[in-house]
Amino acid sequence: MERLFRPKGVAVVGASTNPAKIGYRVVENIVSGGYPGAIYPINPKGGEILGLPTFPSVEAVEGEIDLAIVSVPAPGVLPTVEACGRKGIGHLVVLTSGFSEVGEIDAERRIVEAARAHGTRILGPNVFGLYSAVSSLDATFGPGGIVPGRIAIVTQSGALGIAMIGKTASEGLGLSALVSVGNKSDVDESDLLEFLVDDERTGVILLYIEGVKGGERLVRTLSDVTGRKPVVVIKSGRSKRGAMAAASHTGSLAGADAVFDDLMRQCGVLRAESVQEAFDWVRYLASAPQPAGSEAVIVTNGGGIGVLATDACEKDGVRLYDDQGVLAGAFENVMPAFGSSKNPVDLTGQATVEDYENALDAVLDEDGMHAAIALYCETATADASQFERLIRGVFERYRERKPIIFSLFGGESIAEVIRTLRIEGVPVFGDVYEAVSPLGALYRSWRRSGKKDERPADVAIDVEAVRAILREAGSEGRGFLLAHEAARLAEILGLPMPASRIARGLDAAVDAAEEIGYPVVLKIVSKDIIHKSDAGGVAVDLNDEREVVDAYQAILRRCRAYKPDAVIEGIEVVEMVRPGIETIVGARRDSAFGPVVMFGLGGIYVEVMKDVAFRAAPVSLETANELVASIRSYPLLLGVRGEERKDTDRVAEVIVRLSHLAARCPEITDIEVNPLVVYDQGEGIRAVDVRILFEPPKGVTRR
Ligand code: COA
Repeated sequence: MERLFRPKGVAVVGASTNPAKIGYRVVENIVSGGYPGAIYPINPKGGEILGLPTFPSVEAVEGEIDLAIVSVPAPGVLPTVEACGRKGIGHLVVLTSGFSEVGEIDAERRIVEAARAHGTRILGPNVFGLYSAVSSLDATFGPGGIVPGRIAIVTQSGALGIAMIGKTASEGLGLSALVSVGNKSDVDESDLLEFLVDDERTGVILLYIEGVKGGERLVRTLSDVTGRKPVVVIKSGRSKRGAMAAASHTGSLAGADAVFDDLMRQCGVLRAESVQEAFDWVRYLASAPQPAGSEAVIVTNGGGIGVLATDACEKDGVRLYDDQGVLAGAFENVMPAFGSSKNPVDLTGQATVEDYENALDAVLDEDGMHAAIALYCETATADASQFERLIRGVFERYRERKPIIFSLFGGESIAEVIRTLRIEGVPVFGDVYEAVSPLGALYRSWRRSGKKDERPADVAIDVEAVRAILREAGSEGRGFLLAHEAARLAEILGLPMPASRIARGLDAAVDAAEEIGYPVVLKIVSKDIIHKSDAGGVAVDLNDEREVVDAYQAILRRCRAYKPDAVIEGIEVVEMVRPGIETIVGARRDSAFGPVVMFGLGGIYVEVMKDVAFRAAPVSLETANELVASIRSYPLLLGVRGEERKDTDRVAEVIVRLSHLAARCPEITDIEVNPLVVYDQGEGIRAVDVRILFEPPKGVTRR
């Protein structure tokens, strides 16, 4: 990547003398951006472009070229890539559209193969170019005028990326890099992140992602990068469209966005809701000092906005300083009558500009108070220009030492103050929530900093025995396990299943029930009936022989009516599991991220409540415990109204095992335990139903 960001020589293939063409704009931007290296416009027609002589081909250039920007129509791209490869050019940025984004997948594959044959890397195709501050290189066809700074932007959206050039410039945001990744045929976010994390100029990284490619590597890379530099992501597509077909609960619950959201959090990535929020975060993260601790203080001249800010802090995970004694002492001399030194510190509307400044100094000089949130409501007693001076002064004095954020509320004169100060780089906002949000991002990134991505230690699972079961079922052309096969697999995984026997005949069913002990459950066993309850193939809470006999006959009757040609292998008699908290644990291969594990509140309401969370698999016991604690219903597992805490340790162990199985057996597409009933601490769990879907071995068609 070094050659991409610090190229010694740059060629533009398809450079044009026509200012309306992209091939002209790129040369113009490279020249006007101040790139100090050699620039080689390539155009077989000859002549000069912006005073630079053109070359008929890259091979006609004698000097060294590290980077070529390709701006020729699609049919000319492959020969251009081959010529660049022969010339030994390390990186190509292919601006040309008309590849996989319009279904031309083979054409895209061919250019990547041609490049790889020469060890050349491709950024794109279908990109708007690249900006690298370290080389003063603006090799984009954007509007120019990029301000150098500490923010690196990697964007999949071209149009949005180009718009970001103008937006960052107008908001005074300085960039260390701006990279358009387009179709990601070769170079992707992970390659770029690995470079940017070591790039001294880059303080914070902003990713705009539309679709994930190479998700497993992206998760590993991000987990590593976020411990060293904050990463903010904007991803489009929060809608349900990406949700998988409902082959299993895990599948239907794993809407692409739910998985993305959880995995980004797992990696320590800060996900912004909007471009504006992302800009506010990266601007603050690039300039604010790291806090020395987690306790912030709100200073306000209005009680109402103080309360709003308190709410915003709770929402964004900003902790508030709470030592009342120290607070009272700190503000003793600056607090007007009727004020409150509790946090939020309320100076009331009577506070003068001096009172306000003194109060902020008191916070910022006190070592135990780690960040300041300064709120101001326009009053009749202080004019806006005085306030502007005060904010500028306070910010200058403390900007290197403590995170500060300002929120001002008022009319046109206050709006003017906000505009002026923002252009100067002061973190000042009109809305309280908007102000607290970047501080929340700073704190989340601060908590993550220094953390390393540790691969979880291996867990002993007899994978060969699992594969033997899958092979057996696969040889019958099945892509799922029958109940008894799933039970064998559960045993290998150490999942406690209820006692069960398969009965073939009424007498055998009664004998099995006597042996297991009442109450029992009866379930149909047929490879032709997957959704047993829908077929009327399940009867629960059978307390004696008579109930077992009735249920047995009723199940057969209903299933025959449901699917007359179903081959019925028998009826399973199962121990009736006593009630507990029903949870769900699942693991699956996500199309974007590879193996993921899921935990949530289970039972029949799982689809309605959607109280589930995902992590990239495999996971450690620590991550499994954190996953359990992350669902909304976690308090139920802690025990409500004097109930005992539930046996979540056992649940975490199941999560770990399932996650490792999914990671080590890629042929398993879905494994789901639902419900996994959890009892009081020390009383364990019961896996009531285990469902497994897998890819049958090659050559066997799935039924
Ligand atoms: N080697 C060198 N120069 C070549 C060439 C080759 N193999 N083939 C063509 N050229 C020259 C042309 O002669 C022309 O120069 P000229 O103006 O002096 O005649 C120049 O390269 C451009 O070719 P042209 O045919 O005029 O194409 P264009 O500029 O209209 O379009 C693209 C080229 C790449 C811009 C266009 O095909 C495209 O993909 N546009 C979309 C770009 C985009 O939006 N990307 C994604 C952004 S996010």
